[in-house]
Amino acid sequence: MDLKAQNISKRFYRKAGESNYFYAVRETDLELPSGALSVLMGRSGSGKTTLLSMLSGLLSPDTGTVTADGRDLYSMDDRKLSAFRAARISVMPQGRAVLDTLSAWENVFLNARIAGVRDESLVPRALELMERFGIPDLKEALPKELSGGELRRVMLCRSLLLSPEVLMCDEPTGDLDDQNTALVLDSLRDYAHQGHTVLLVTHEADAVSYADRLLQMDAGRISTPDPV
Ligand SMILES: Nc1ncnc2c1ncn2[C@@H]1O[C@H](COP(=O)(O)OP(=O)(O)O)[C@@H](O)[C@H]1O
Ligand SMILES: [Mg+2]
Repeated sequence: MDLKAQNISKRFYRKAGESNYFYAVRETDLELPSGALSVLMGRSGSGKTTLLSMLSGLLSPDTGTVTADGRDLYSMDDRKLSAFRAARISVMPQGRAVLDTLSAWENVFLNARIAGVRDESLVPRALELMERFGIPDLKEALPKELSGGELRRVMLCRSLLLSPEVLMCDEPTGDLDDQNTALVLDSLRDYAHQGHTVLLVTHEADAVSYADRLLQMDAGRISTPDPV
């Protein structure tokens, strides 16, 4: 699925300061093709998460449109958009997004449960994913018993479980060591090359060499850096 953003922007209100509105994302055009790993780099506060949220149907832009295979996401009503997102767009959020009372295994299935998907084939797929990311022994563990890096990998298994057409990961390697960072970046690139649309958002330079398309974000604006 190709995702296309045209002229999207987002302003936020900030209480302090002279002017109360500021642009987190300035008017931006962007296309995310399937079959490619797009990497969006930029320092903290440059607007990456805001842009990802708009692209994934989570945050309505102030201007412009986001279309997925030609369908305008924000002209759908809430129910339609939720159903569309659940089936086709998966987001791995920045930060810690697990339910503390559920085991790692249950957390891997959380989004599928919420989407009402009860497919037998998800069990072997979940096992395979946990194996691939080196956490097969942590199925019964509770989040409080897991390290930041292990939690991150649980979240990644969850994002991949339903084999979404579009996968967007916000700082997925923030608390991983070098070896696991390479494993995750490799997996995301593989997933893209299987024909999916993958966006990786990061402030870390490790990802550059994995990118099929590299985008740089600076103070709410996107640029394409010159090839090195
Ligand atoms: N809901 C919000 N309300 C007000 N300001 C916000 C909100 N979300 C993000 N911001 C601000 O917008 C800017 C961009 O944030 P963000 O998109 O999270 O950047 P990044 O992901 O690149 O670190 C930051 O200055 C941040 O403080
Ligand atoms: Mg962010």
